[in-house]
Amino acid sequence: MVKITETILRDAHQSQAATRMRLDEMLPVAEKLDKIGYYSIECWGGATFDSCLRFLNEDPWERLRALRKAMPNTKLQMLLRGQNILGYKHYADDVVDEFVKKSIDNGIDIIRIFDALNDTRNMKRAMDACKKNKGICEAAFSYTTSPVHTNEYFVKLSKELEDMGADIICIKDMAGILLPYNAYELVKAIKSTVKIPVHLHTHQTSGVGNLTYMKAVEAGVDIIDCALSPLGNGTSQPATEPMVAALQGTPHDTGIDIVKLNELTGHFKKVADRLKADGFLTDKSLQTDVNALIYQVPGGMLSNLVNQLKQLNALDKYDEVLAEVPRVRADLGYPPLVTPTSQIVGTQAVFNVYYGERYKVVSAETKGVLQGNYGRLPAEPNAEVVKKVLGDTKRITCRPADLIEAELDKYRAEVAEYVEQDEDVLSYALFPQVALNYFKYRQANKYHVDTEVGDVSKKIMPI
Ligand code: CO
Repeated sequence: MVKITETILRDAHQSQAATRMRLDEMLPVAEKLDKIGYYSIECWGGATFDSCLRFLNEDPWERLRALRKAMPNTKLQMLLRGQNILGYKHYADDVVDEFVKKSIDNGIDIIRIFDALNDTRNMKRAMDACKKNKGICEAAFSYTTSPVHTNEYFVKLSKELEDMGADIICIKDMAGILLPYNAYELVKAIKSTVKIPVHLHTHQTSGVGNLTYMKAVEAGVDIIDCALSPLGNGTSQPATEPMVAALQGTPHDTGIDIVKLNELTGHFKKVADRLKADGFLTDKSLQTDVNALIYQVPGGMLSNLVNQLKQLNALDKYDEVLAEVPRVRADLGYPPLVTPTSQIVGTQAVFNVYYGERYKVVSAETKGVLQGNYGRLPAEPNAEVVKKVLGDTKRITCRPADLIEAELDKYRAEVAEYVEQDEDVLSYALFPQVALNYFKYRQANKYHVDTEVGDVSKKIMPI
């Protein structure tokens, strides 16, 4: 039997519709989702936290509590970027500890933890915190291809993560470049080495995702990520309904009733229509991206390159830049191309071509990668490039967060006047300005909110 994690409430709309699905579009079918028999429902973390505060005027913690209440029977899952939590930089250990604790306190069962560089030191603190708070710890590695990223490399990594206490191993193919027969070999190799379940996450971006799932299933994968069809396929996960149908009546039957799924499909079609009407969902996200197959880079990265070159009025350099991307990646020690490394490698490739000399102009981020500020690189970077870029600047070899002092108390003091729940301090720690704006909005709208729930005691509120 193969189990399914449903991603419609998180990765599906993050990948296709700029993470704009609202809580009021989730709750009407939460009870139905809860009764399908999914292994888990991914519904929080990733970019949803930022999006709630920044665009939707929603408290992400309130969203989590509401989903928990509405779906008491299914495990709720979130995505966490290791020491980067849900932000884009390294945070102090005390912030990581508290964030993980509060996520579980408010209703999360499974935390998928990964690091862009697969530096396990950047994952350890979050993994330990998850275990300590009795969460299910799903350790993920970022899948990529390079001379160092062989099956042996990923098997060794999986074993290390199992030894670190992982309950589940996740192959995170964020770019949708894991091909079916490679998936078969990789899953077989991991399954023969680790004892814990293996979960596969892919995207249908390059058009092979569902084939990849079939071969992974044949190789014994335990869980796969799917998204209900209205926001499935394309840049999102392979659609749930066809996967369920394809496995029906086989030894891999998911046990899910496709007729029951159809009731959900109808609801999310309407949600997709709303996202389309508001311009967040376009047909482009459903097109097969052949470039991802040819160049092994995430689809979004290529469109970024085109935009950057357009701005520089140098679109004629596109082919040169495309050829430069793998060279820069090799120079930097083959980082997997995922946020933020995909942007860093892409921008540096543009600079190297545009300025007519490699590493004549270097971004602060490229410098940071070579310095070790993001963590240990998969392979040694090119020594000549290191010398040219860093000069006498020293590289760090420790875990980047070892250099960050505890910071929670500082944040607590800074935001004290706005705090209505402990969790607000964490929202502020991750996204200071965005959280402040939201807190101000919340205060200003208090009268309205309280009237709605019939509470007249707090009617006089400052604007
Ligand atoms: Co994804």
